[in-house]
Amino acid sequence: MTYFYRTLAVFWVLIEGVLAGPWSAWMPEHISAFEGTCVVIPCRFNYPDELRPSAVHGIWYFNSPYPKNYPPVVFKSRTNIVHESYVGRSRLLGELNFRNCTLQLSRLSPELTGKYYFRGDLGGYNQYTYPEHCNLEVINKPTIVSPPEVVEGTEVELRCVVPDNCPDMKPIITWMNYETLAERSVYAQVEEEGSTWSLISLLKFMPQRENHGRELGCKVTYANTTFEFDGYTTLDVKFPPRIVQANSSMDVIHGSDVVLICSVDSSPMALITWLREDEILHEDVAGNLTLHLENVTYLQDGIYTCMAENIYGKDNHSLALAVLYAPWKPVVNTSVVAVEGDPVSILCSSQSNPEPTITIFKEKKAMAMGVYQNQVALEFESVTHEDDGEYWCTAENQFGQRSTAFNLTIEFAPIILPDSKCTAARDTVKCICAAKSNPEAVITFELPTRNVTVNETDREFVYSQKTGYVVTSILTVQREVDSQLFIVCSARNHYGTKNQQLQFHHSNSLMWAKVGPVGAVVAFAILIAVVCYVSQTRKKKNTNESSSFMQTDNPPAVFSGDYRGPGNLEKSEYGRSDKRFLAKRDDLGIDYANIDFTKLSTKDKYTLTEELAEYAEIRVKAGGRTSAAGWTGYPSFMLQEPTEKY
Ligand SMILES: *[C@@H]1O[C@H](CO)[C@@H](O)[C@H](O)[C@H]1NC(C)=O
Ligand SMILES: *[C@@H]1O[C@H](CO)[C@@H](O)[C@H](O)[C@H]1NC(C)=O
Ligand SMILES: *[C@@H]1O[C@H](CO)[C@@H](O)[C@H](O)[C@H]1NC(C)=O
Ligand SMILES: *[C@@H]1O[C@H](CO)[C@@H](O)[C@H](O)[C@H]1NC(C)=O
Ligand SMILES: *[C@@H]1O[C@H](CO)[C@@H](O)[C@H](O)[C@H]1NC(C)=O
Ligand SMILES: *[C@@H]1O[C@H](CO)[C@@H](O)[C@H](O)[C@H]1NC(C)=O
Ligand SMILES: *[C@@H]1O[C@H](CO)[C@@H](O)[C@H](O)[C@H]1NC(C)=O
Ligand SMILES: *[C@@H]1O[C@H](CO)[C@@H](O)[C@H](O)[C@H]1NC(C)=O
Ligand SMILES: *[C@@H]1O[C@H](CO)[C@@H](O)[C@H](O)[C@H]1NC(C)=O
Ligand SMILES: *[C@@H]1O[C@H](CO)[C@@H](O)[C@H](O)[C@H]1NC(C)=O
Repeated sequence: MTYFYRTLAVFWVLIEGVLAGPWSAWMPEHISAFEGTCVVIPCRFNYPDELRPSAVHGIWYFNSPYPKNYPPVVFKSRTNIVHESYVGRSRLLGELNFRNCTLQLSRLSPELTGKYYFRGDLGGYNQYTYPEHCNLEVINKPTIVSPPEVVEGTEVELRCVVPDNCPDMKPIITWMNYETLAERSVYAQVEEEGSTWSLISLLKFMPQRENHGRELGCKVTYANTTFEFDGYTTLDVKFPPRIVQANSSMDVIHGSDVVLICSVDSSPMALITWLREDEILHEDVAGNLTLHLENVTYLQDGIYTCMAENIYGKDNHSLALAVLYAPWKPVVNTSVVAVEGDPVSILCSSQSNPEPTITIFKEKKAMAMGVYQNQVALEFESVTHEDDGEYWCTAENQFGQRSTAFNLTIEFAPIILPDSKCTAARDTVKCICAAKSNPEAVITFELPTRNVTVNETDREFVYSQKTGYVVTSILTVQREVDSQLFIVCSARNHYGTKNQQLQFHHSNSLMWAKVGPVGAVVAFAILIAVVCYVSQTRKKKNTNESSSFMQTDNPPAVFSGDYRGPGNLEKSEYGRSDKRFLAKRDDLGIDYANIDFTKLSTKDKYTLTEELAEYAEIRVKAGGRTSAAGWTGYPSFMLQEPTEKY
């Protein structure tokens, strides 16, 4: 029998389900409700059947199960005396006789938040406070539940959860600030958990990076009331970085300071890196990253890339930084010595940004030019001696100009210049041979009829001087009157030898041409005067000469060299000649009268070179004993400044 009852008791427990034993109660552990609304706390209790009480009473206590603590009485069925906080607010909905202790609390206020205990009163000592109790929470905002991660482009669902345990007042949920969300939809559903009810509004949408930081609201209202409760949540949308601001390609001037900015939109913050080509210059986890380049040089020219990366993705932006600078000093790469006739290519190169204009000049004349080129070639199919000289290579852009000078040296065989000739003067014959060559020529005078070859090593007879590439040798033949005399000038360097028979010039013929008809008349008058003068001096001179020649055993010197040093002049002019083979003076026959016209040469437009002027002066001094006026102007007939002409 006891076994039967026990089994029955277990069966009762099983069918009751939630009641654990004879003295047990069931109510939700937690329940919540909005301030000002009501809440119904469902409640059941049990007691041993054998008690069979005549009346069942009950008490709801607040926050304490023990009567001796005098907890606030929420509801008391026996007396209806309640704590002042609950006057008019509490009502027992359940039927105690049916072991139903369901309680309703109305016009909730925050201080009603707490634990609620039910005490069964079955008369006498059969009073018992059930340990099971309900935690009431009086709230004033709805709960918005977000998924742990909201990622751009992945649909999310937000839940606004509102307690719905007041039968009199049904909540209405509306979302706020959600209208612009992409692909949004709202559903409502009711959920029960442990006999407490919730109204849930589900907001589904496709998050976008623009939604990051957006405050979404959920509002709870009740029909026919002014109650309104708001809850908010801030969207934390995760998205890959996007570079929103960065400098574009630019030109900067050498030496300037450059600031490059890269602003990134990303969530979470990205690792931003500035690279030049593949080299990392600067990196940081930030919203933007600035790259400072101070005093930029051409070495910093290049492609700069800003890269931003977080776990959701990456982005990059590249720009070209062009550093502008003035040309470098041009470099001429070729050796600039060539032999006449060779092909020559001279390369002049520089570097600048923008590309330079390179010009190769010779004497202000542009010989080659390259616009926006790093190099320019000056090409000669076959160089001539006229290409010899100083050249300038100039590289220029808007930031500056640099130049390099170089000499193009051409080696060439001698050329005998047209000035080369012999001029008979009163008692000498002067032969000038001018040769242009590189390297300098050795000039040799040959007198084939005399079996004589003479060069400047015979200083007594030949005077040489060099101006640039022109070597001028002057041979002085004294008083050798020979109409057959012919003199060959030979100029030689290792590229060749040039021989030329020197022409005799009678100065008067030249003179007529130069002085013109009026001058000719004047000259004729002078001629008459001079003829008279000459005939007088000749008489004197003949005696001088004969005495001079007597002093030596040798025949009179025919060749005389001119020395630049005054000490030697005496010797050179009048010194003994070693040339025993020299010709007999009788063979020379030159009309001395011509020489006197040289006085007119001062009117010549030709100018004397310094050396020749000096030379002429020396001759005047040296020759003073023999011919006072004969040499003053002599060289000026024959020579001009070589550099002017060649
Ligand atoms: C208890 O009483 C309430 C109010 O009358 C009722 O809604 C509820 O269904 C009852 N509970 C049980 C278990 O009968
Ligand atoms: C609100 O009030 C209107 C009339 O005043 C009534 O028809 C309606 O049923 C009420 N709604 C609620 C939920 O009480
Ligand atoms: C790069 O861009 C920023 C912002 O626009 C600007 O302040 C800065 O001067 C730019 N840098 C250069 C070198 O132009
Ligand atoms: C860059 O970031 C700093 C701090 O992170 C901020 O103060 C500044 O305004 C930002 N600049 C730009 C252009 O975004
Ligand atoms: C810039 O750099 C050059 C060498 O690269 C240096 O000579 C110059 O003094 C620097 N100028 C400044 C302002 O730092
Ligand atoms: C930059 O982005 C482009 C595509 O936007 C990608 O092809 C390239 O590889 C990226 N560059 C770097 C250095 O990551
Ligand atoms: C000069 O440069 C040109 C072209 O680069 C080359 O062909 C030539 O050999 C160079 N000359 C010298 C002397 O380096
Ligand atoms: C070129 O030659 C001239 C005369 O010989 C000389 O003065 C000048 O310095 C030379 N220039 C160069 C660049 O060698
Ligand atoms: C010149 O010398 C050669 C031999 O060296 C000789 O044969 C010739 O006769 C000479 N001529 C004169 C004019 O002396
Ligand atoms: C000049 O002539 C002499 C012989 O008269 C000769 O020995 C010498 O080599 C010649 N000088 C030159 C530079 O040719």
